[in-house]
Amino acid sequence: MSTSVIILAAGKGTRMRSSLPKVLQPLAGRPLLAHVIETAKQLNAENIITIYGHGGDLVQQAFAHEQVQWVEQKEQLGTGHAVKVTLPVLPQTGVSLILSGDVPCIRPATLQRLLDVSTETGIGLVTLTLPDATGYGRIVRNNGEIQAIVEHKDASDEQRQIKEINTGIYCVSNAKLHEWLPRLSNNNAQGEYYLTDIVAMALADSMQVVSVEPEQAFEVDGVNDRVQLAALERQFQTAQAKALMQQGVHLIDPSRFDLRGTLKVGQDVRIDINVIIEGECELGDGVEIGAGCVIKNTKIAAGTKVQPYSVFDSAIVGENTQIGPFARLRPGAKLAAEVHIGNFVEVKNSTVGHGSKANHFTYLGDAEVGSGSNIGAGTITCNYDGANKFKTIIGDHAFIGSNSSLVAPVQIGNGATVGAGSTITRDVAENSLAVERSKQFAKENYQRPQKIKK
Ligand code: UD1
Ligand code: CA
Repeated sequence: MSTSVIILAAGKGTRMRSSLPKVLQPLAGRPLLAHVIETAKQLNAENIITIYGHGGDLVQQAFAHEQVQWVEQKEQLGTGHAVKVTLPVLPQTGVSLILSGDVPCIRPATLQRLLDVSTETGIGLVTLTLPDATGYGRIVRNNGEIQAIVEHKDASDEQRQIKEINTGIYCVSNAKLHEWLPRLSNNNAQGEYYLTDIVAMALADSMQVVSVEPEQAFEVDGVNDRVQLAALERQFQTAQAKALMQQGVHLIDPSRFDLRGTLKVGQDVRIDINVIIEGECELGDGVEIGAGCVIKNTKIAAGTKVQPYSVFDSAIVGENTQIGPFARLRPGAKLAAEVHIGNFVEVKNSTVGHGSKANHFTYLGDAEVGSGSNIGAGTITCNYDGANKFKTIIGDHAFIGSNSSLVAPVQIGNGATVGAGSTITRDVAENSLAVERSKQFAKENYQRPQKIKK
């Protein structure tokens, strides 16, 4: 059965009170619509048709890299009208999964179950039983068979007692959509073209209407305001945290963990509280991440321990390194095995070789540091002259004394020593000592200035 995906995304999202269109609001760091498109791709949909209205340009720009067909719904006349505007591009055969751009957590597995029970000529619905169904369309059954969907505003008192609701997710025959949608009327309490009216049409045509329920209720939760967005974010994070724990990750507190992207893990990874992982990250066997770290697009090899409040972006970290607390690795930081990067050390676009250490208050920018070198406290690579950036190259087993400035471009040879407090502007040869500071001045029995009497 060839499958299209139709995503309804024309709604205004007024209650978000945002200049950003609702479907671009982020859940776990990605736009709501990105989650739905990702799900459609996982189902190998033949085509993904997105219905847009408000903020169409922004939405299309955000997904310019995706194979999505865009259809504009100029006026929001209802869900049935929204799907109707896709008919000119909708295939005549196969089925369509109809999803909402603001229902981001629906799982491919649930949709696959829906596809499995649906027939090529009928309708499949995702329904859910809620303790309080107020506001939703109700699933009216007779002897267990679905008869109709009645919107809350159109429902009788008796129908309002029904707890089974329409989640707004459907699998419908394309041939039948072409047949049914032009026949919809807006003769109802809201004066809208209801997509839900196709259920009664299917029954009139003796077509099957079937349903599945999602495994977890939050899969079908929609986002209308920021309160719902935050609640769904938590549910989504809880589910991700659970999946990681099932893979063997030791999350000290899963309710204080956020993953905004994907995380690959080895065995016995331990993550303390309030850690945020963003983009695509990898943590090797036995990696420990201390409290409050923010780690983005970074790979950390086995055995490395990151102390609290360290921030990494686009870095590569070797095995058994020790980092932090309060360390910052910026894009292009590459640390070999057994490196130590301590508190208030910033590394940008630099490689640090095996076993080298920069333990306190240092900036390494556009630098190459060999192996076994020690970078003293307060060392700065002066990589920028105000217009251009230059490289600092430090060899193996070098020793840079505390509070030194290395003015790039400059090279410090293997085994070289730089005396503390030096401003180094010329290359330092292998195994030599360079000191750049004035001689210490001394005066015995020195009298400090006295306060002048008035
Ligand atoms: C709809 C269902 C209702 C169901 C509920 C689940 C109908 C008539 N009712 O309610 O049975 O319980 O969803 O949340 O379908 N949209 C458009 N264009 C429009 C109208 C809506 O693109 O003209 C989009 C919205 O952006 C949203 C989705 O369709 O993503 C659902 O619209 P919404 O207004 O939230 O649904 P309801 O009509 O309240
Ligand atoms: Ca709604």
